[in-house]
Amino acid sequence: MQLSDISDDLESTLFTEQQIADKIAELALRIDADYAGERLLLVGVLKGAVMVMADLARALTLPIEMDWMAVSSYGSGTQSSGVVKILKDLDTDLTDRKVLIVEDIIDSGLTLSWLQANLRSRGAASVEICALLRKPAAAKVQVQVRYAGFEIANEFVIGYGLDYADKYRNLRGIGVLAPHVYKNTQ
Ligand code: XMP
Ligand code: MG
Repeated sequence: MQLSDISDDLESTLFTEQQIADKIAELALRIDADYAGERLLLVGVLKGAVMVMADLARALTLPIEMDWMAVSSYGSGTQSSGVVKILKDLDTDLTDRKVLIVEDIIDSGLTLSWLQANLRSRGAASVEICALLRKPAAAKVQVQVRYAGFEIANEFVIGYGLDYADKYRNLRGIGVLAPHVYKNTQ
């Protein structure tokens, strides 16, 4: 699905398919160099990170392994609270593993800082983070993101894995959701 297919639901276009592909290629080059000769485990956070994971994994020339976690953060409405529940855990033993968490977006940072600490506590050799998007103005905790894609304003974005009510994940680009979409459904 293209951004032009749902232009009525968009406030603005943020990144095209090509811009995203270029950014992923840039991140992959750095990851390839940093983990050369290592046995890297990519941990994707469901569901938002599926597109980043699929494209990043294929852009890498390193052999990698992939695993997935699903977490939900308790909180009021759309605000995450930092209290995280594991809905689906990893299948992989992290002892002495080099782990790279792959995320779509960091908002408050609460989910990722919890997840990074949790994976570190399992005896991983290292736990770094790769996130395609980041909203610096929304940060509540500082998370060290070694591989960061784009910085964006504090607006609700959709596409390329990011959803609103589980829709729009299959958009090839990323855009800002028009307010009339969420106002109509509340
Ligand atoms: P925190 O606040 O803990 O939460 O960093 C990160 C998670 O919140 C979701 N999120 C979004 N999802 N558009 C979305 O579709 C957005 O603009 C947005 N901001 C935050 C996302 O699931 C992320 O993993
Ligand atoms: Mg997510």
